[in-house]
Amino acid sequence: MLSCLVTGGHSGLGRAVCQRFARAGHRVVSLDLMTEDKTEDNVQHIRGDVRNEADVQKAISRLPKIDCLVSCSGVANAFKIFNFESKRPQRLEDFKTLLEINVFGTFNVLRLVAHKMAQNQTDPNGQRGSIILTSSILATDAHEGQTGTAASSAALNSMTLPLARDLKDVGIRVNTIAVGFFATPLVERSESQELLSFIRLATPCPSRLGDPEEFAHLAERLIRNPMINGSIIRLDGACRWPERG
Ligand SMILES: NC(=O)c1ccc[n+]([C@@H]2O[C@H](COP(=O)([O-])OP(=O)(O)OC[C@H]3O[C@@H](n4cnc5c(N)ncnc54)[C@H](O)[C@@H]3O)[C@@H](O)[C@H]2O)c1
Repeated sequence: MLSCLVTGGHSGLGRAVCQRFARAGHRVVSLDLMTEDKTEDNVQHIRGDVRNEADVQKAISRLPKIDCLVSCSGVANAFKIFNFESKRPQRLEDFKTLLEINVFGTFNVLRLVAHKMAQNQTDPNGQRGSIILTSSILATDAHEGQTGTAASSAALNSMTLPLARDLKDVGIRVNTIAVGFFATPLVERSESQELLSFIRLATPCPSRLGDPEEFAHLAERLIRNPMINGSIIRLDGACRWPERG
């Protein structure tokens, strides 16, 4: 049985991870801003903000040890740098909030979890734990209006290898899943039907949104395979994001 901390476990990709891991008999704690403190379907939900040290420590304290962290908390927004119709620049606050949650928040959880994970016994590979971050293929293929999401995803991708190197001496692996487009509330609430059709067109095979369970499946494999470390793995059905005509 593994002890797992999942951020963003109330919804979407994180929720699928919580459900899969709990079904497999692992001990799962989720930290999420939008939940209340409760235990449901063998997942212990803690309400809190990944940017807040006390909230993260509270979630960490609910596990006797942490074998894996799957970081799925995050937000997305779409805006162009300048609105030439209203003649207004984009609000700096929106860009800052996006980076604060997606990048600073992720960093905050990692730095606090690493300490506890490093106290685990080593396995036969000399490893103590595994960390998975979630970024987006928009790190490299972003469209107009996606500057913020591109910047936060690129930051997480760039952090992956140095984090793996930072933590090599204590036997902690770090990998990132760069997702394409998945059927989660984040995508379903923010995208128009026109854009959803475009996403399907840009995703050749399978030509559909990803199922969050497919994300959870890969997260589990990354945790299980001791040789995968410092990698950014695209999970996107070969989605490439061409300029729209
Ligand atoms: N779904 C996609 O197609 C897609 C594509 C690219 C990237 N992503 C990224 O994957 C991650 C998960 O996305 P999702 O689709 O599951 O979204 P989602 O909105 O369904 O779930 C995200 C969860 O993160 C939580 N959260 C947000 N800010 C938080 C904070 N400060 N502290 C704690 N929890 C917080 C939310 O409450 C929510 O439950 C996000 O970082 C998102 O940007 C998703």
